[in-house]
Amino acid sequence: MNNFSEKIISWYEINGRKNLPWQKKDPYKVWISEIMLQQTQVTTVIPYFNKFISEYPTIKTLASTSLDEVLSMWSGLGYYTRARNIHKTAKILKKDFDCKLPNEIEALMSLPGIGFSTAGAILSLGFEQSGVILDGNVKRVLLRISGNKSPMNKYKTEKSLKEFANILLPDSKHKEYSQGLMDLGAIICKPNNPNCSKCPVDEDCAANQKEIQDEIPTKIAKKEKIEKKIDWLLIKTKNKVLLKRNKEKGIWQNLWVLPEKDFFSTKKISKILPVEEDFSSFEHHLSHKKLLISVKVLTIKNKDRLSIDRRIFNWVNISDSVNMGIPKPVKDILKKYD
Ligand code: ADE
Repeated sequence: MNNFSEKIISWYEINGRKNLPWQKKDPYKVWISEIMLQQTQVTTVIPYFNKFISEYPTIKTLASTSLDEVLSMWSGLGYYTRARNIHKTAKILKKDFDCKLPNEIEALMSLPGIGFSTAGAILSLGFEQSGVILDGNVKRVLLRISGNKSPMNKYKTEKSLKEFANILLPDSKHKEYSQGLMDLGAIICKPNNPNCSKCPVDEDCAANQKEIQDEIPTKIAKKEKIEKKIDWLLIKTKNKVLLKRNKEKGIWQNLWVLPEKDFFSTKKISKILPVEEDFSSFEHHLSHKKLLISVKVLTIKNKDRLSIDRRIFNWVNISDSVNMGIPKPVKDILKKYD
């Protein structure tokens, strides 16, 4: 199997993706793109990435911006801990690393939000040094190559995959190899109906030899998501809506959402003489929760009749809300009223 990496690199040179906007020898761009790509598809990430980089072209500009601004850039991408970690890491890089990403795995992994695979991506794609990427595509490729039926989402499997991936690393062309393995997973070694006749490493693949491609990878069943009911109020005037800043605990920390129904007493609401309208209910899925969201729309004439705590509430022009950190379901609701 010693020419495994050569076959991947040759395949990449002809078939791989070479025009993704983060494919520059720039560890900063690789870092941001890898964090965005952790839970989000390439096509969704591209516009967010381009906007983020044009707003913060360097680590220095990112480190001197506020968390609120970074969260607003992240609005709609989900998994906001990623944005909070990016902001924390930028501050650390400014303070301790002269606004540069380090090129050593331990130093990289000491930074918030950077784990083994992201560190490997920064090293191989950003610095053109040796480094292992283990995203979902690469894991699937390596499990099939080794004919490994252990569950992909188990710690023990992950550990053995890291060791196997290390053995396969090339001596040079680290960037092409890493990107090649990811692309092979995305283009050829797909979850269903892998196109083995086009695969450059079909002869090295235990799953292919035993014709068990469809049985790999296996996964342990995930726990059912907890359901949570949310009843929001969209309190609006002609051109403003009332938004509430979430706490620093729980979901969507520090982001702007709609006030919940029980935040205002019926008495208080009836005083503002609203015209009511029901917005249909919908579901929104987080990694660990299923949210059942209902929205009641209250249109009022005079917003000053509603007393609010200005530390948590803000009347906002819907068109200005694009510059605030707002989670996707709230964005979608506001879009309907813009
Ligand atoms: N997924 C994770 N990293 C990626 C990359 N650099 N290119 C495409 N997909 C990816």
